[in-house]
Amino acid sequence: MKVLVVGNGGREHAIAWKLSQSELSPELYVARGNAGIWEIAKPVDISPTDVKALADFAEKNGIDFTVVGPEAPLVAGIVDEFEKRGLRIFGPPKKGALLEGSKAFAKAFMKKYDIPTAEYRVFSDFSEAKEYVEKKGAPIVVKADGLAAGKGAVVCETTQKAIETLDKFLNERVFGDACEKVVVEEFLEGEEASYIVMINGDKYVPLPTSQDHKRLLDGDRGPNTGGMGAYSPTPVITPQIEKRIKEEIIERLIYGLKEEGIPYRGFLYVGLMITKEGPKVLEFNVRLGDPEAQPILMRIENDFLKLLLDFYEGKNVKLKESERWALDVVLASRGYPQKPETGKIIHGLDIVKELKDVIVFHAGTKKEGKFIVSSGGRVLNVCAYGDTLKEAKQKAYDAIRYICFEGMHYRKDIGDKAFKYLGE
Ligand code: AMP
Ligand code: GLY
Repeated sequence: MKVLVVGNGGREHAIAWKLSQSELSPELYVARGNAGIWEIAKPVDISPTDVKALADFAEKNGIDFTVVGPEAPLVAGIVDEFEKRGLRIFGPPKKGALLEGSKAFAKAFMKKYDIPTAEYRVFSDFSEAKEYVEKKGAPIVVKADGLAAGKGAVVCETTQKAIETLDKFLNERVFGDACEKVVVEEFLEGEEASYIVMINGDKYVPLPTSQDHKRLLDGDRGPNTGGMGAYSPTPVITPQIEKRIKEEIIERLIYGLKEEGIPYRGFLYVGLMITKEGPKVLEFNVRLGDPEAQPILMRIENDFLKLLLDFYEGKNVKLKESERWALDVVLASRGYPQKPETGKIIHGLDIVKELKDVIVFHAGTKKEGKFIVSSGGRVLNVCAYGDTLKEAKQKAYDAIRYICFEGMHYRKDIGDKAFKYLGE
């Protein structure tokens, strides 16, 4: 069976790695991938957002099943294009992808279906937005409506900062059409966590829980990034909280999708703030998280390809979750997230390959002759298993000592937030 993975990051490496272990021995292809994925999948030199060219490729090469990693192809309508041609693909259609592609759409959807989230208003006029921010005061959160590669949400500690952000978005249009509108929302206090499910119509299957570390620096300081590390499961999501997430968020969302006539089949990521009042939605993503996917997939014990195929066909599936912990530390380039330096030779990967319980998923890497070099902001995900979270953390950080590239930096505190919940 031929399977195509769409995307270039650490999440896609983890997806390809998990699929490659299937009893169905799939012949894997990746568009475009990275140096790590190319070790297990054949490279396809088509941009993930060139949905027509990808569908042509899938038709010509007899691809049996396609799994989409990032949001951009989904928002661009890759699923609609593949399904029009009778090709099997796992992901939501364009209409469903709007839950991530437009924050204003997602917020209106949540309001309509009574899904708990921060209070908000949508603006396209700078003066009106400024007046609102001045009335509400700080802290306050300003978000570009459309896709901005994880950089479109700004938590503003002062009114001044909020007004500057509004100016950048609405007047300067730093993200082009993606910031034609902005969402201004109430600042929520609490602990963040990620809850990802697979949805097929009425059915849903929760994947293991996880927690990301979005800020660049230790202690949650510095700018927001795509994510600097994650672990699974997270004690932040207790069984009681999980029950509320299912009832107040997932089930209402599925009901809403049906009411709106959106046939949703794919992953759905809920970015949560666990507040004093309970779980509230920060954002919906229509895909697996990156870096959350890495520890999550490491802990799924099913044959993932079979699981996906069965779920795709509408069968009932049962997820088997490992008892072990998994933790992922992202190694980033100097200058990330603003202006990452690239083209740096990466050393030490061969040594780390030999370590027990350690897996390195590549993100921004490519081959240059006999070297593997950095090609993006997030470069590698060093992941490890442990019988405890502490052990997983120790193994991941021990492995990092063998790896280096010029300007490499990473957070030293991935997982620490969990220890207070675990009493460690
Ligand atoms: P988003 O892309 O909407 O998930 O926002 C990115 C990050 O900004 C989140 O992971 C949070 O850390 C932070 N954030 C977003 N919205 C809020 C909010 N209403 N209150 C507090 N922090 C927020
Ligand atoms: N790790 C956050 C995201 O994938 O959006």
